[in-house]
Amino acid sequence: MPGSPDTAGLLQPTSIGGVLQLRNRICMAAMTRNRCIDGNKPTDIVAQHYGTRAKDGVGMIISEGIFISYDGSDFLHTPLLFLEEHARAWKKVTDEVHKAGGLMLFQPWHAGRLQNEEMSMLKENNYPVLAPSNIPASGDRYRLLEGHPGHSKNITEITNPEEIIDQYRNTASLAQTAGFDGVEVLAQGGYLLHTFLLKRSNQRTDKYGGSAENRCRFVLDVIDAIIEIWGAGKVGIKISPVDEYHDTASPYHEISQTYSYLISQLVARELGFITLSRRGYDTEPRPTGTELPPDYEPLQEFGDMIKFPGSKTSLIVNYEYSVEEAERLIRSDKIDLVQIGRPFISNPDLISRIRKGIPLAENDRGGDLLYGPYQHPDVGYNDWSAAE
Ligand SMILES: Cc1cc2nc3c(=O)[nH]c(=O)nc-3n(C[C@H](O)[C@H](O)[C@H](O)COP(=O)(O)O)c2cc1C
Repeated sequence: MPGSPDTAGLLQPTSIGGVLQLRNRICMAAMTRNRCIDGNKPTDIVAQHYGTRAKDGVGMIISEGIFISYDGSDFLHTPLLFLEEHARAWKKVTDEVHKAGGLMLFQPWHAGRLQNEEMSMLKENNYPVLAPSNIPASGDRYRLLEGHPGHSKNITEITNPEEIIDQYRNTASLAQTAGFDGVEVLAQGGYLLHTFLLKRSNQRTDKYGGSAENRCRFVLDVIDAIIEIWGAGKVGIKISPVDEYHDTASPYHEISQTYSYLISQLVARELGFITLSRRGYDTEPRPTGTELPPDYEPLQEFGDMIKFPGSKTSLIVNYEYSVEEAERLIRSDKIDLVQIGRPFISNPDLISRIRKGIPLAENDRGGDLLYGPYQHPDVGYNDWSAAE
């Protein structure tokens, strides 16, 4: 993703939902980094990490995924937000971002079937792995568990969806105490909300399963609960229609129908933004039966449903966008903003580099850099230098 001096479109201010004023159209995507080592709460180093990127002028930061209840995923030091003490810890982070004139949105996360009940937090609290249906996800390898098992085979089907919706209400309200500026609901990656959308993981026979309308109902109920607290303009959602990550690959006709319905409902609610990730669009080969039409791009199918004259919903794209491609799409009025993920790890001064046309630093430190393990939590996190 080399920098380019020709980035006037990306660097133009904009607003979301008429209520969030952004300095430019470049957002930092949510990235789990496992640095919340104080009882799953962020510490000063987390505030420093986000604060540095805010000081450099990023348009908007999406927090790493933050669990809305007990978590049994394979990510050990991920944050929680369901108690006042969690909110107080996040307030220090959002204060740091605000001091630098930035905006930071909260990303609520429920891992759904991508957990294992043997992970310490679930085990100690005797809390189950909850999912729409009792269909285990294939894959993974829990590094901390004996024998390195995969995702749970011991799933408890959600009997009362309202209880989970209440957890979203609680976390969304605490996010206000924590000083966040809005919410980006995580609905991709094979986690709970995503699994409600897909037939392969949702075989419920109640009003939350079956037709596309029913499979979208849980996500929309969660969105409605959060809108009640925040107002639609400050709420967005991250979706990835052709994702195949974590056992989610689904037939194209199902995706097309489900996401067309979901998007139409989100836009009708005048949601602040939709983040459209294209992860999976270039995966070759996809599992049999989930192949995509030739040269398929989710933006081509769903872009006009979100971005059209008079739409109140901003369109943010994500997944392997270069500065050049994002700039071109902004200039041709195809998108409103872009979310950049991985390049923000090794470029604390990503905005300055884009502004000055300085090439971006590559991550040359290997895979452990992302989630650990690390010698010290600052390593690979707060030790990247800015360009001269
Ligand atoms: C280390 C790491 C952690 C991530 N954690 C999250 C997360 O917590 N929530 C989320 O929605 N996406 C997460 N993602 C995906 C990114 O938000 C983004 O969608 C992805 O990196 C693609 O954007 P990019 O090509 O600009 O990196 C993560 C990605 C990485 C590399």
